Amino acid sequence: MNKVTTGSFITFEGGEGAGKSTQIKRLAARLEALSVPVTLTREPGGSPGAEEIRTLLVTGEGDRWSGLSESLLHFAARADHLERLIKPARSRGDWVLCDRFADSTLAYQGGGHGLNSAAIQTLYDLVVGAQGPDLTLILDLPVEAGLARAASRGEGEDRYEKMGLAFHERLRAAFLEIARQNPQRCVVIDATFDIDTVEAAIWTAVSKRFSLSS
Ligand SMILES: Nc1ncnc2c1ncn2[C@@H]1O[C@H](COP(=O)(O)OP(=O)(O)O)[C@@H](O)[C@H]1O
Ligand SMILES: [Mg+2]
Repeated sequence: MNKVTTGSFITFEGGEGAGKSTQIKRLAARLEALSVPVTLTREPGGSPGAEEIRTLLVTGEGDRWSGLSESLLHFAARADHLERLIKPARSRGDWVLCDRFADSTLAYQGGGHGLNSAAIQTLYDLVVGAQGPDLTLILDLPVEAGLARAASRGEGEDRYEKMGLAFHERLRAAFLEIARQNPQRCVVIDATFDIDTVEAAIWTAVSKRFSLSS
């Protein structure tokens, strides 16, 4: 019988400027150094169709979408991303590292915009079901520090950065609550430290969770 290999699925979550995009590349490099095949991806986006939807979500005015329509767009993009990129990659044995995933919908559209979490859970069950992440790293740091880092990046995809401080405080609280409710899956990483220190903390969490030796 052929051995069925399914690559692990790790997601990076947290507010703007927490260091997700920086750290996901560092984790990919560490895994590749151990000859683990890695597919690096991001949300919203990750597949051609989902990247088109991304543009609708990350540009324009802050009040462009209601919490409901924004959640539907995210899950439409996520369905395409799962079908066309994540599932095939995991089936061939790749580890998939994803910069943001469904917890961001819960935090931004639920915690931030106030859409009820039961509605988001219904969409999650329909679109993601049992294909969710094995490990979620939640990068946590004070809102002002994250926004200052994000502003220094100046990449133009700044729709969420323009939301008020109170929105970002709700986001941060929502991510910490997700971690509290899913202790098996989530690890909170203190992202206030320098890049190398945060990288080491992430590596400790990953190698412990998957019994890797560095
Ligand atoms: N631990 C850190 N300390 C200081 N600056 C950081 C740290 N991590 C990332 N940065 C910088 O902050 C900015 C935002 O980081 P980024 O990885 O893009 O965050 P995110 O993807 O979570 O929004 C980038 O310019 C990055 O180089
Ligand atoms: Mg990023």
